Amino acid sequence: MKIYDNYNRPVTSLRISITTKCNLNCFYCHKDGIVPSSQEMTADEIEKACKVASRLGITKIRLSGGEPLLRDDIITIIEKISTIGFKDISLTTNGTLLEEYSSRLKEAGLNRVNVSLDTLDSNTYKFITGKNHLEKVKAGIKAAVKAGLYPIKVNMVMMKNINSHEIWDMFKFCHQQGAILQLIELLTTEQCPGNGFEKYHYNLAEIEKKLSKIADKVKTRKFMQDRRKYYINGGEIEIVRPMDNTRFCENCTRMRITPDGKLKPCLLRNDNLIDMKKALQEDNLEKLRRLFIKAIKNRYPYYQKNKKGNP
Ligand code: GTP
Ligand code: 5AD
Repeated sequence: MKIYDNYNRPVTSLRISITTKCNLNCFYCHKDGIVPSSQEMTADEIEKACKVASRLGITKIRLSGGEPLLRDDIITIIEKISTIGFKDISLTTNGTLLEEYSSRLKEAGLNRVNVSLDTLDSNTYKFITGKNHLEKVKAGIKAAVKAGLYPIKVNMVMMKNINSHEIWDMFKFCHQQGAILQLIELLTTEQCPGNGFEKYHYNLAEIEKKLSKIADKVKTRKFMQDRRKYYINGGEIEIVRPMDNTRFCENCTRMRITPDGKLKPCLLRNDNLIDMKKALQEDNLEKLRRLFIKAIKNRYPYYQKNKKGNP
């Protein structure tokens, strides 16, 4: 069974932000759309939410943050989720703790990781993240490959005059590691810190034009927000370009949960969250199911033709 929202979009994947804590301080971070909160869901509550999601036809789980590897019980969380029967369980991480965790994550049932890394230059890394962890992250990617957390994606947020000249070095690095390079458009929406980093926005349409000329093959992931994948000399580049591409939202298949147990229908909105903490604490699966359906019916494509935002 698949469940559809009012725009005929199937909801097949769930992104759970399990903590707001992070050990980096990237200046552009939208914190996966999450507002700060002290009360994190427990591992049991996360498991309950996943069970209900599975019964509603959700087949993919993504754990994100903050930095999800900062949760002491991350292995327990994955062990619990992995018994439910999802097709894909993945995690988005800044990679600083991956060297330490990769093999245990794999053993616990995690399928794959996406690692945020915008640059291979240590000064630029420090400028973006405020920390000196570049070598740790590179070691983390290697460890993830070794542990078989595959396919691994490296998330590079593209920024004019910061890292836009590094695409080919990053592509080479990823190809050497056996990872996919994911180029991400810098989001400068109201959910982002708004401290003037709009000047770094880089239009990925130009890059797509170049890539389409040199690629051996191009594939569109329709049900993954209409993203395009370019295959070049045995390597892969995927483009995430939400702001100037209305098909991105038209083809969004995701529901989200905040660390404190609120259902969140869209990354870019915080005004239509549905609180399920009480139902999680009460162990009321039927109530949870109803809340999920309510949230799904609350989903609107954020970027639409000639229009931004929602009713
Ligand atoms: P997979 O293809 O399954 O690996 O997922 P993913 O690439 O979407 O996951 P990841 O957590 O690595 O996110 C990559 C980028 O997509 C990030 O920059 C996110 O900001 C962006 N993104 C994720 N979810 C949404 C969403 O719901 N809406 C928009 N506009 N952007 C999103
Ligand atoms: N624009 C685009 N991507 C962002 N991310 C965080 N903030 C932004 C933003 N303002 C990315 C991170 C991470 C992923 C979960 O979201 O780089 O890889």
